[in-house]
This record gives sequence, structure tokens and C-alpha cells, in this order.
Amino acid sequence: MPNAMITGWGKCVPPSVLTNDDLATFMPTSDEWIFSRTGIKQRHISHLPTSEMAVVAAKKALAAAGKSGADLDMIILATCSPDTLIPNIAATVQAEVGANCPAFDINAACSGFLFGLGMATAQIENGQCKNVLVIGAEKLSFYIDWSRRETAVLFGDGAGAALFEATDSDAGVQAYALNNDPAGREILKASFGAGIDKMDTESLNFHLQFEGREIFKRAIAGMGGLSHQVMTKLGLSQDDIDLVIPHQANERIIDTLIGKMKVDPSKAFKNIANYGNTSAATIPIAICDALEQGRIKPGQNVLSCAFGAGLTSAATVIKW
Ligand code: ACO
Repeated sequence: MPNAMITGWGKCVPPSVLTNDDLATFMPTSDEWIFSRTGIKQRHISHLPTSEMAVVAAKKALAAAGKSGADLDMIILATCSPDTLIPNIAATVQAEVGANCPAFDINAACSGFLFGLGMATAQIENGQCKNVLVIGAEKLSFYIDWSRRETAVLFGDGAGAALFEATDSDAGVQAYALNNDPAGREILKASFGAGIDKMDTESLNFHLQFEGREIFKRAIAGMGGLSHQVMTKLGLSQDDIDLVIPHQANERIIDTLIGKMKVDPSKAFKNIANYGNTSAATIPIAICDALEQGRIKPGQNVLSCAFGAGLTSAATVIKW
């Protein structure tokens, strides 16, 4: 059975940067409050739609792998902020890279990239596909109500992509676990969609609403539980993990998770200071940054885990 290995990666981070000090000029907040509670220093804001960021990341990932769009057997685009619901925006990426294959969006919120990884791995392992492009792309600034400091400071825009390729080597995705806990579906939401009466403008709410403390607890339980499940399946201990790339929602969540997992804190990869929470884009952007910084070396086991609205959670171990 072939393994699914990442052979190309790329990110798109919009050039416009909004620092904590910038935010403090138009809302009652401070760099001290934001940084001490979240680890965020700045976020990038896009003036272009999600699909354009996705296309840039996708083209970089293909170029890095030495592939063209014609090589692709499937495109999976994880997003909860598509430019349009119909058509899906994976179709835009497909047109731009010149692919002729199934292309579709998935919405598993911040776990979306790892859900896409799971689907890509299954397609490669069962022989259906040889090259699957998985993208996480978000324009979360769309959802922000700039008069609500509780949410406005947390999110950013960006995209990341990875090409998963069939390989006969023992490298690649070793195992993954995906889950959803619908009991928590109300604690993180934006209340609009086809279920809303479009004439009832009172109930239309495009803004993100969440219960931060409840999310904090459930994020650690969700990511910790599935990480444990994957490591147990593979017979790996904490010492066998060389790097952890967790979802970047809050630095304190990452620190608490790493502490509970009893992993050496130096193995936790963090880039939240630069980007804030970019939802489905956090993991592929973090993979790009970790590779650029030389934090991932051949033969290493990298654990990645995520948590998001749904409440979705996911974990995987990739051997590089
Ligand atoms: N600047 C200054 N003060 C603020 C800000 C801000 N940006 N936001 C809130 N405050 C104030 C509140 O008004 C409140 O003031 P009060 O005590 O006078 O009423 C005080 O700070 C504490 O507010 P809390 O909401 O209780 O702050 P908390 O300590 O819980 O931190 C945070 C909020 C950072 C969101 C935290 O709950 C958290 O990390 N949650 C998990 C991550 C999360 O929810 N991410 C968004 C969802 S996406 C995802 O995670 C998958």
C-alpha cells in the first residue's frame, strides 16, 4: 500500500499587516492584553478573496514538488470563508492551475486542513489517486465585527497548500484521527446560511460568536485526545515525537496542551505571533514556516493536531 507524503508546500500571506498597536488606535484594547492572553502580535488582512490566496499557495506547492496542474488527481480546499458557496472555490484553483480532476471545498473550520489530509491519504492509500492537493485558505476578516474587541483581535487571513503524493517509502502520513462533537456546535458559530430567513434581517449575523473559556477547555481535550489516539495506534511515546505543529488559536492553549501531553516544550512549533488564528490555513502555513526554518528534518516524526467549530478535532503523525 502506498504512503501519502507531502512533496510540495506553499503559503500566501497577504502583505497588509495589522499590529496590536494598530488595533489599539480604534478599539479599547492594548498590545499587553492581546499578547499576554493569546500570544498574538499581529495578523495579516487580505483585500483579495480567499480563492486568490488559495491559488498563490497552490501554485507554490506545485512548483516546489515539480508538478503541474495536469498531474493532479484531486483538489481539496478546506475553508469556512469561501468567496462564494456556489460554485465551490476549489473550482477556481482548478481553473488557475490547469487541472482536470475532482475539486471541492470542505468545511471543518480550523480542523479543515487535517480533515483534507485524512481524505487525501485515504485516496492515495487505496490507489484512487497519486497526487492530491490539499489547501487551507481563509479570509476570516470577513467575519470580524471591528466594534467587538473580544473577537476582532484573534483572527487573520492567509492560505497554505500541500501536495500529497503516493510514495513507496516508509515516509508520509503514518496515521490520522478525525472527530466531531456536535454537543458543542453552538459555542463557536456565525449565524447565517440557507437556514436563515433572508427577509429577517434581525436574525442575520455574519459575525463570529464564541464562548472563549469553553473553547479553551474543549480544544485541549479534543486535540489531546486524538493525539493520544494516533500515538497509541503507532506505538509512539512523547520522546518519539520530534515536533508538534498544533492549530494556532492561542499560545496558552498550545502551552497547556504540550504540558498535558508531557512533550518537551521546545518541540512545540508556534507562529501565532505573526498571523493570529487563520483557521484552516494555520496548519499548512505552520508546516511551511517550520520547513523554511529548518525545524523539520528527514526521518523526523511530526505530530499535528487541530480543533475548530463543529466541534471538529483532528490529529496526525507524518514521518518526513
Ligand atoms: N482587549 C482588552 N480587553 C478585552 C479584550 C480585548 N481585546 N477582549 C476582552 N476583553 C476584556 C473583557 O471585556 C473582560 O472584561 P471585564 O472583566 O471587565 O468584563 C476581560 O477582558 C476578560 O474577558 P474574557 O472573555 O473572560 O477573557 P479570557 O481571559 O477568557 O480571554 C480569550 C479571551 C483569549 C478568547 C480566551 O477565552 C481564549 O483563549 N479562548 C480560546 C480561543 C478561542 O476562543 N478562539 C476563538 C475561537 S476559534 C478556535 O479557537 C478554534
